[in-house]
Order: sequence, then structure tokens, then C-alpha cells
Amino acid sequence: MYLEDIKKEAIKEVNEVKSVSEINALKVKYFGKAGLITEELKNLRNVPNDQKAARGAEINAVKKEIEELVNEVEKTLKTRELEDKLMNEQIDVTLDINPSHIGSLHPLSIEINKISNILVNLGFTQVDGPEVELDKYNFEMLNVPSDHPARDMQDTFYITDNILLRSQTSNTQARAMLNLKPPFKVFSPGRVFRNDLDATHIPAFYQIEGMYVEENVSMADLKNVLLQICKAVFGNDTKIRFRSSYFPFTEPSVEVDISCPYCSAKGCNLCKNTKWIEILGAGMVHPNVLEAGGIDSTKYTGYAFGFGLDRVAMLDQKVNDMRHFVDNNIKFLKQFK
Ligand code: DAH
Repeated sequence: MYLEDIKKEAIKEVNEVKSVSEINALKVKYFGKAGLITEELKNLRNVPNDQKAARGAEINAVKKEIEELVNEVEKTLKTRELEDKLMNEQIDVTLDINPSHIGSLHPLSIEINKISNILVNLGFTQVDGPEVELDKYNFEMLNVPSDHPARDMQDTFYITDNILLRSQTSNTQARAMLNLKPPFKVFSPGRVFRNDLDATHIPAFYQIEGMYVEENVSMADLKNVLLQICKAVFGNDTKIRFRSSYFPFTEPSVEVDISCPYCSAKGCNLCKNTKWIEILGAGMVHPNVLEAGGIDSTKYTGYAFGFGLDRVAMLDQKVNDMRHFVDNNIKFLKQFK
């Protein structure tokens, strides 16, 4: 092909080009490794020496002319493509945006963390137990044999005769006794299950269990530790009182009330004007329980307690219906930060 023809063809083609990608293809066609102009320059070596300079200048002039045209067309095309893009990708500022949501902890998690921190500061170590549990750990080792009337205190979900959904975190006591040597001081937050549903009961709820076994542990130790926990949760003015009660795994057993944190013990709807609210069960570990756990009950004594965590969270975070905790209503959940 003559140089003049290459030039003509190039000018025609470049002027007809419609996109940046087409112009890139032409750059390869003329200036690429095997491009038409490149080939012309390579062929210079076959040109007789006395004509080389003139031929070289001729090719370079054509090359320059095509390059300039290519650059000019490329610039126009790029500007046009950008303008098209801006027109087509216009942002509609009147559109609703999806605001990003910052998550927060569930109020029960907040409460579990709060009480767990308090217990760790009081020297307790966390232990855990399974939610699907053997009857042995949930009842039998806790001095509740299968024919014991105390089984009726908790409406338990059974999976088989032997396997159940734990009805109390007390199963962790049984497991701790088998795994640890006294002295030990453990706590265990977790989910428990009972067949119950109303404003103050849900079938899957939370408890926090505590247990301390050592020589000479007394009821006074129990009262002191519970007072400290309750003050840390509900404020320094909180008072507690023990009411005599019954649990198969403790003797003596008590139910523990706190002075109503809502009305500062003046009397309100929540405490039904009694000024006190029940929040946990506790007592001195029954010798039968210690023995079942392989602990010498003539040498060691211990206390144990179990908080109803949802109850505590309702009081602490001013929630008036326990079912809110499981409704998964975002408006409710977002209030707790
Ligand atoms: N497990 C009892 C319940 O669910 C609460 C409880 C009472 C736990 C006394 C204890 C305890 O550890 O000593 O009602």
C-alpha cells in the first residue's frame, strides 16, 4: 500500500469513528506492533541509503498528521461520552435514601453483661451448661428425684423421659460440682424453658445462677453478696429482704425481695403498694446436693442463688411487659443503647 493511500484511509476511518473503543482499535491498526505506519517505518531499512532521510521524513509527517487527527477525535469523543454519562446517571435527589442502621445490643444482653460484670468483680467465674439437658443434671442431682412433688413447681418441656429443655440454670450447679474442687465460686447466665405465657412469663426466659462452695460459708455471706449485687444493679439505696421459702436444692431456702426501685419504696402499681419486689430464689446448698456432686457435706457448705433475668431487666430498664423482649419490634429494641 502506498503511503498516500494509508493516509487517505486513516483520515477517512478516523473521521467515521463513533466511540473511544473504536478509536483505540484504529490506534492499533496504524501504530500498533504490526500497524501500517509501524510497518512503513520498519521497511525503511530496505530503502537505499541516499533516500532514507527523505523517506523517513515523509513517513513521519504522515504519522504526525494521523496522530494529531486521532488525538483530536479522541478528545471530542471522550468529552461526549462523559457528557452522555453525566446525563444518564443523574442523581435524583428527591429519592428516599436507605439510611444505614447502627445496631445495638438486645436489652437482655445488656442486662446479662451488666450482672456478669458485677459477679466477676465479686470473684465469680462463669460456667455454662447445655439448654437441652439430661434429667440427672436439671433435677436428680439437685435433690429432685422423679417422683418428687417439687417437679410440679416448674412446667417442664420433656423431649424424652430422660431428656428435657432445662427449666432452670441450676443444672450448671450440678455440672460445676462434678468438674470443680471446692472452694469454687461460679455463676452461669443462660436461657431456660417452661410452659408459661403471660405479661410476666415467657416460655424461653433467662436466669443467672450463682454458687459458692467453701468451708464455713454462711447465710450471712449469702445476704451480703446478694445485697452487693442488688445495689450494683438497682442503685446504692436498694434494700433487700429474705422471706422464708422452699426449694428442694437448698436448706434453708429464701425468696429475696428488693425495695421497689420504681417508687423508691413509697408504694406503686408495680410493687402493688407493698414496697417490695421479688427477684430471686436462694439458700444454703442442701447437703444431699453437695453429696450428689461428690462434695463432703460434713466439711463444706455453700450458698446458691438464681435470678430471673427478664424480671431484673424489666425493673432495671423500665419495661412493663416481658413479651416485648421476644417480639423483635425494632422500635422497642432501638431504645436500648
Ligand atoms: N432454680 C430456681 C428456680 O428456677 C431458682 C433458685 C432458687 C436457684 C434457689 C438457686 C437457689 O440456685 O439456690 O425457681
